[in-house]
Amino acid sequence: MCGIVGYVGSDKAGDFLLSGLRRLEYRGYDSAGVAIHGGDTFHITRAVGRIDALASSLGQNPVDGPIGIGHTRWATHGPATQENAHPHVGGAGEVILVHNGVIENFQTLKNELIEKDYVFQSATDSEVVAHLIAEGLRVTPETPDDPSLRYVQAVQWAVAQLRGTYGLVIAFQDQPDLLIAARFGSPLVIGIGHGEYFVASDSSPLAGCTDRIVYMADHQLAVLRPGGFSVTHREQGKVTVQIQPLEAAEEEVSLQGYEHYMLKEIYEQPESLKNAMRGRLDEENATAVFGGLNLTPQQLRSVERIILTGCGTSWHSALVGEYLIEELARIPVCVEYASELRYRNPPIENNTLVFGITQSGETADTLAALRETKRKGHRTLALCNVVGSSIAQAADGGVYLHAGPEIGVASTKAYTSQCCVLAMLALYFGRIRHLSFEAGRNIIRDLQQAPGAVQEALNCNEHVKTVAEKYKDATNILYLGRQYNFPTALEGALKLKEISYVHAEGYPAAEMKHGPIALVDEKTPSVFIIPQGTTYDKVMANMEEVKARGGPIIAVASKNDPHIEAVADDVIHIPDVPAIIQPIVSVVPLQLLSYHIALLRGCDVDKPRNLAKSVTVE
Ligand code: G6P
Repeated sequence: MCGIVGYVGSDKAGDFLLSGLRRLEYRGYDSAGVAIHGGDTFHITRAVGRIDALASSLGQNPVDGPIGIGHTRWATHGPATQENAHPHVGGAGEVILVHNGVIENFQTLKNELIEKDYVFQSATDSEVVAHLIAEGLRVTPETPDDPSLRYVQAVQWAVAQLRGTYGLVIAFQDQPDLLIAARFGSPLVIGIGHGEYFVASDSSPLAGCTDRIVYMADHQLAVLRPGGFSVTHREQGKVTVQIQPLEAAEEEVSLQGYEHYMLKEIYEQPESLKNAMRGRLDEENATAVFGGLNLTPQQLRSVERIILTGCGTSWHSALVGEYLIEELARIPVCVEYASELRYRNPPIENNTLVFGITQSGETADTLAALRETKRKGHRTLALCNVVGSSIAQAADGGVYLHAGPEIGVASTKAYTSQCCVLAMLALYFGRIRHLSFEAGRNIIRDLQQAPGAVQEALNCNEHVKTVAEKYKDATNILYLGRQYNFPTALEGALKLKEISYVHAEGYPAAEMKHGPIALVDEKTPSVFIIPQGTTYDKVMANMEEVKARGGPIIAVASKNDPHIEAVADDVIHIPDVPAIIQPIVSVVPLQLLSYHIALLRGCDVDKPRNLAKSVTVE
């Protein structure tokens, strides 16, 4: 939520800032801005709307200096206007900064600063930080021996007064070769080049610029000059940071010929599933192996309950996980919305494992729920995609999805990888309990079918396009499925809502009789997820009920289903697969359906209105 970038070196800062902001646009895109040094002073350019609008303003008044900061905004405090766009300036312009996060006590600080005659130009909480740092400079004496020290102290003085979260990159009008980055609760990554440094909210802008990065931790502050960088921690003082290789290659964060990231990521699923399973299926022992769970054998055996928590699509994969873990490992599971778990304060028994499921690893509610349960002494694990993300740092252990960067705001490949990892976890927990060697082997075989089955399911794309054409004007669509396919129904409905703004509801197919059936008429299509399986006949009966009331029916059904054509108006075929991988396969046509409906309705698929990829506010 909000993307920030910074550059200090000898190249034109503007090139990196713009390309970086484009790669971070998925984090927010209602306005954007940069401050670049033009030889005399920092010049600020801001524009409402997408990065293209900023690029065109910058094109009219180019600034070529070798230091600058940039921001793409997802509004929290104040509407999307030019005044509220970042960078913001503090004092009489001596401090310039970009901020990601939320300052909870901004109003109190603002009142105090107004009393000291600071003049505010925007309605944002971020501008408060800029003025506060300017005030920090005012109260901090010069330090001739170490020219950076006074600026560091001013920032430290200011951030010590903040309540809330921040990722900050700060430039100073009289320091044309200094950037300071500070982090608490909002991620920041430093890219190390040769005589140049990059800063960004995540590593995606750095691919192609450097292959060495440092993930900043909370309470750290980095001083970046072309000649070197150093990092200090609020309590520990100077810290030795770990320089890590950058995992994402440039092609992973580019469109590679696809029209949209969402489509690219849908098509990447056979590969991302293979990556999720790579090295984790142990055929010899008929189980799964995980390197980072950090659980002792005794802790593993004593698990009596598992809580799966997350938001949005990740919450849906948690529902799939609930079915899988209870079925295969016989451990009671409860699925919690992270935003509720953090405040609901449910009694949690000893020997409960808490999994935070999150693609980005930055979702504020998921992080807070995990931290709260950890604080109460429970073991917390993260299931996330982004390496080095906040949740990966906060949890006791975890599993990476290895799905590669997911840039489309609507999650696709991360969802199927989450389902896959949860199935492997179910196998793993099952095998240290009652699950036989034979059963474990069969589950491994089932899982190994997933990449190929998804590849085959993708063949439905052209047909899905024609189905989308037929139903693109619907204003309401029901998604219905049972057992493993109930979460699929929820996920299909969410995908449609997110990117095409069509109202959709996911329901357990049988539950439809208790309310949603009242919505059924000839203008309200129902999407039934009805692959072969134990509940096939029951779902078929639900389908007949909808048909009897004149509702159009789209069925996602197994390819050799002999009965489906007689009942459904449109059928999308998927391969016939074992139940545990059904959610992975049957969601694929639903991802494509929402993609094509959104395109036909003229929606911006990768950047749907009002949404952001990673929601770092409550
Ligand atoms: C946002 C995104 C959703 C995503 C949810 C959780 O709402 O738009 O696509 O499912 O956050 O994100 P996470 O990164 O925690 O999985």
